[in-house]
Amino acid sequence: MLRTLAVPPQRARQGLRLTLAFAIAGSGLAACSDQPVVPTTQQIDDGSGLELDLELQLQLSLMGIDGRIEERFTEKLGRDIDQVLAETGRLLFFDPILSLTQDNSCSGCHGPNVSFNDSKSISVGIGNNGVVGPDRNGPFNLRRAPTIINAAFYPNLMWDGRFASENKDGFDNSQGFRFPEPEGTSLSHLEHLLMAQAFTPVSDRIEMAGFDFVGDNDAIRAEIARRVDAIEEYRTRFSASFPAIAAGDPLRYEHIARALAEFEFTLIRADAPLDQYARGDTAAMSAPEKRGALLFFRNPAACFECHITLGYANQMFSDFESHVIGVPQVAPSETNAIFDGPGHDEDFGRERSTGDPADRYKFRSTPLRNVAYQPNFMHNGAFVCLDNSIRHHLEMQQTLETFNPEHLEYRLHARRGPDEPMIQRAHHLSKNPRGRLTDEQFTDLVAFVEISLSDPDAHPDALRHLIPATVPSGLPVHDFDFGAPEPECR
Ligand code: HEC
Ligand code: HEC
Repeated sequence: MLRTLAVPPQRARQGLRLTLAFAIAGSGLAACSDQPVVPTTQQIDDGSGLELDLELQLQLSLMGIDGRIEERFTEKLGRDIDQVLAETGRLLFFDPILSLTQDNSCSGCHGPNVSFNDSKSISVGIGNNGVVGPDRNGPFNLRRAPTIINAAFYPNLMWDGRFASENKDGFDNSQGFRFPEPEGTSLSHLEHLLMAQAFTPVSDRIEMAGFDFVGDNDAIRAEIARRVDAIEEYRTRFSASFPAIAAGDPLRYEHIARALAEFEFTLIRADAPLDQYARGDTAAMSAPEKRGALLFFRNPAACFECHITLGYANQMFSDFESHVIGVPQVAPSETNAIFDGPGHDEDFGRERSTGDPADRYKFRSTPLRNVAYQPNFMHNGAFVCLDNSIRHHLEMQQTLETFNPEHLEYRLHARRGPDEPMIQRAHHLSKNPRGRLTDEQFTDLVAFVEISLSDPDAHPDALRHLIPATVPSGLPVHDFDFGAPEPECR
């Protein structure tokens, strides 16, 4: 394991202490789980900062963070990205032709102006006003759209992980891809989980398809493929990637799904200060961020219990499992979705797809890379400030008691689901308040999540160039608002 440590050259002389600390770390691992894995900064810091680096580098190596996940993407994919197909996918991603109502596209809910997240706390699908930003209007859906940046690394998708690769690897279909019915395992022949996922938004009546078309999901997709096939520019573009289409075959939805996924493959942004640090640049992170990192990976904050980095997590900071952390329930006054519970003001989380009451209120631990670029947090955007979403983890009961949805837009003020049933089911880490961090420790923890995990290339300004001026259908490209003011948070 020592070989994977990124020890910067100026640290070579520290070899002996490194080995010593590593031995202590090893013994810590075998001890009781609420002991720190390695000695605390206070125990060994001589004030120079060197010890802090030593400690953090050890911790990162234990967590399997080597700063090289981004460069391993094509190795995992087993081939280079097909840039021609990705370009076709980019145009489709922004083109409302994929919506039978012709008023929404993938980019309507995953906007580049918000780092391919949702610009709203809860998605607005069909019937929108063409704006992507705080002024987007129209009936709400159930949940917020998470970012598609880095989603290619995920072993399962969606807030409840309901689209999953059976062997916990989105790049590997050998055990099949499992989706809820009606898709079931029918999309398992596709090369990557994102290709399978790309079949689903277009057939969702609330998101993109609308309620007028008569026919099942396959009929919807066939109609979309027919419409795209009728556009000469798309036929030319797809012909360049698929010889059968060049030879005259009709376009099928599968070609569209492959193009969309190929575009998503170009959205890997996993070279953050933490990664540079892990590769040996000790100046890439500030001292508060470094201290915050150690808090993240240890008790009492214990963030790493769910936001894991090892193995199938691909250094994405999620165990891709679902847990109850008791996020305040927010239900819109105007919605096309059916909410759960007696008051129709709750989201039962994973239970909605498994039907198992034991899964009630469970949501997938959110992968945390680039989270600071989001305008809202959690599955329903209940928080608009990163630090509040982190504080909630440490003091669930308290945030639930004091939560007031008035920082959200007025259509989300009216209906708030009950807390008590969630509190009863909460994960033990949420139930037993861990609010024991000092103010300084909390600030350090936020600095780590906010700065160290943010790849500058995932900032909205670095993504603006991806918006096409026009799309092949000739339909209007949405109006992306890059100027939304930052909320007042502290
Ligand atoms: C109406 C808004 C909307 C549109 C349009 C939309 N999405 Fe989404 N997307 C969402 C929401 C909401 C979720 C999470 C839903 C859930 O978990 O229940 C999501 C989830 C995803 C995910 C999973 C990300 C993760 O972290 O697991 C991917 C990938 C994705 N969408 C891609 C697309 C693509 C590609 C398109 C266009 C074909 C698209 N979306 C269109 C709202 C939308
Ligand atoms: C018990 C498992 C668990 C632990 C421990 C945990 N989280 Fe989470 N975290 C989650 C889940 C689950 C969600 C998504 C909840 C939802 O949206 O309803 C989440 C969401 C988040 C989000 C919001 C992400 C987004 O895109 O909206 C942040 C930020 C976050 N966690 C940071 C932390 C930090 C920092 C810690 C340590 C103090 C921590 N988490 C500890 C499970 C956990």
